Amino acid sequence: MSKIVVLISGRGSNMENLVCSDIPGKFVLVASNNPNADGLKKAKNMGIRTAVVDHKTFSSRQDFDLALAKKLEEYEPDLILLAGFMRVLSKKFLSRFENKVLNIHPSLLPAFPGQHSHKQAIKKGVRIHGCTVHFVTPSLDAGPIIVQSAIPVNPEDDEKSLAKKVLEQEHQIYPIAVKWFLEK
Ligand code: GAR
Repeated sequence: MSKIVVLISGRGSNMENLVCSDIPGKFVLVASNNPNADGLKKAKNMGIRTAVVDHKTFSSRQDFDLALAKKLEEYEPDLILLAGFMRVLSKKFLSRFENKVLNIHPSLLPAFPGQHSHKQAIKKGVRIHGCTVHFVTPSLDAGPIIVQSAIPVNPEDDEKSLAKKVLEQEHQIYPIAVKWFLEK
């Protein structure tokens, strides 16, 4: 069975949703750069191994990436899922896991890469917003797109309401993308 590692930095709702989906793979590790990530508790409660590689304890991004890569390699993952993981991974890291790293981003890429995508969407006045699952490449939020889901933006929407509606869509499409990946 395919071995899956999930990387998180915070709440971990996508991670929890993925683990609870009928994905034909084994979740062997949930790792975080943030020792206080709520998602770590959720993973433990679901009986999944957890690890912390705290970026604050490394003097360079390169050292952090190397330590994270080494930790992940212990589990020989077939697939690495970024689920609210708020660190940019270097080319060196990604070359060790080529074409095996997916990310979910809360916008219809290529619109609104980076942080605060809902705020950016409101500011621009877009009428359609959404989320994207894509392969991770060294360029931020720019890898090949696997699946997207779109929602209408209504005049009464704010950052919070958009985040809620988009998250519901994230929980729909990430498991679909993972199944497609595992089915090759
Ligand atoms: C999700 O909305 C995810 O798309 C976003 O962080 C949130 C994490 O929520 N990721 C990014 O912004 C990555 N650039 P979760 O921890 O509850 O899954």
